[in-house]
Amino acid sequence: MGDNKLETILECMHLNKDQLKSVKDRLHIEMMKGLGKASHANARVKMYPTYVRSTPDGTERGDFLALDLGGSNFRVLYIKIGEKVEQFSEVYKLTKELMEGTGEKLFDYIAECLANFIGKQGLKDRALPLGFTFSFPCQQKGLASATLTMWTKGFKASGVEGKDVCVLLYEAVKRRGDILLDVIAVVNDTTGTLMSCAHAFPDCVVGLILGTGTNACYIEKLENVETWDGDTDPPKQVLINMEWGAFGDDGVLDDLRTEYDESIDKKTHNVGKQKFEKMISGMYLGELVRQILVKLAENHVLFDGKTTEALRNSWKFETANLSQIEGDTSPDYKVCRKLMKDHGLEITDQGCKIVKAVCAAVSSRAAQLAAAGIAAVACQVGKSDVTCGVDGSLYRKHPRFHDIMTATIKQLAPGVNVKFVLSEDGSGKGAALVAAVAHTLKSKTK
Ligand code: BG6
Ligand code: GLC
Repeated sequence: MGDNKLETILECMHLNKDQLKSVKDRLHIEMMKGLGKASHANARVKMYPTYVRSTPDGTERGDFLALDLGGSNFRVLYIKIGEKVEQFSEVYKLTKELMEGTGEKLFDYIAECLANFIGKQGLKDRALPLGFTFSFPCQQKGLASATLTMWTKGFKASGVEGKDVCVLLYEAVKRRGDILLDVIAVVNDTTGTLMSCAHAFPDCVVGLILGTGTNACYIEKLENVETWDGDTDPPKQVLINMEWGAFGDDGVLDDLRTEYDESIDKKTHNVGKQKFEKMISGMYLGELVRQILVKLAENHVLFDGKTTEALRNSWKFETANLSQIEGDTSPDYKVCRKLMKDHGLEITDQGCKIVKAVCAAVSSRAAQLAAAGIAAVACQVGKSDVTCGVDGSLYRKHPRFHDIMTATIKQLAPGVNVKFVLSEDGSGKGAALVAAVAHTLKSKTK
């Protein structure tokens, strides 16, 4: 049944311990480049200082608005922080047209959703402080200033790269003229996740997203951040948004990338960019599997050599499907059979076993690479116990991602005990917590 051919085709997806250890070491080198004053300009892993200096201490209070843009959902939230945190939110549809149209249209839509939400919640006359989770690479000049360096994850709205997204939001709100806006902080989703998790687990020092995209942030000592231009008052630390998705963009991972990674890259809006992300995150894993399935069919290892238009259709096989297939333990491979049927393909039990092996190869590589990344971060943090807050549909839905990551980290960073805690409330709460701290400081200095 072509087991050898299967092994040969899947071989390029397997990474051994030495290779993973090398990924960890290479990322650590890139991290140092990103933090260094002279090397930063040419660094691919940008290690952006966020101007968030500490995690919540539990004294944060107040009512806040939050926007959460850049994951699989666009959300507007009303968050009341007291002894407990109460959250009211609405998901608004974000079409491909908005993601790929003009920046003005995109921000007009964000303002429209905000206005709609404020109206529904009866908050029209209150200029509530707002935290904006904007999950794209941004150079920050302060908490409420974030210049988009480049779009990632399928967004390409024109006229936004190189602009401060906070200013774009104010301009859009001004064009409407019917709501009040007070943006206190723009945060990345990794930051929002870390803040949100640290509210429940105060020892949380790393934030990780494994969703549509992937990225991590962590708390770094100021003395290691040569690019830091803010004040040096205690606490002498700052949260760093790594933007690790760009790891490999200068070719340092090319020896590990496969023909499938190459081919996916060519089909994206950001060719040559986010190479690490494209090997790990939810936007891409399904497509990796689909490409391998086509290759196996062409080599007569699957589907009697037959492919259908549905199977040849790029991006139609979703990462959620991969999680479902891997999670299905029914003896007759119900899920796999049904999904292949949806693609117009009849499949045998042996065929299902092969599809499952392909999904496992792709997701295991992704989880191992993410683990190599976290091992590098954990070593940089320099503690024996490291708590990492995590969010994202890939991590939530995949049955083995957590376990593979944990096992790999044990191998790559044997002296460190990394504990993952799942973010319960999304990063909007984290953005509100950042806004809460900044708002209190702002009122005190008024
Ligand atoms: C959400 C966070 O829970 O997870 C978002 O609130 C984040 O800020 C998202 O971007 C990441 O996951 P996904 O799968 O939606 O991209
Ligand atoms: C992409 C974005 C990054 C974000 C990540 C996870 O990598 O560039 O800012 O944190 O996706 O959503």
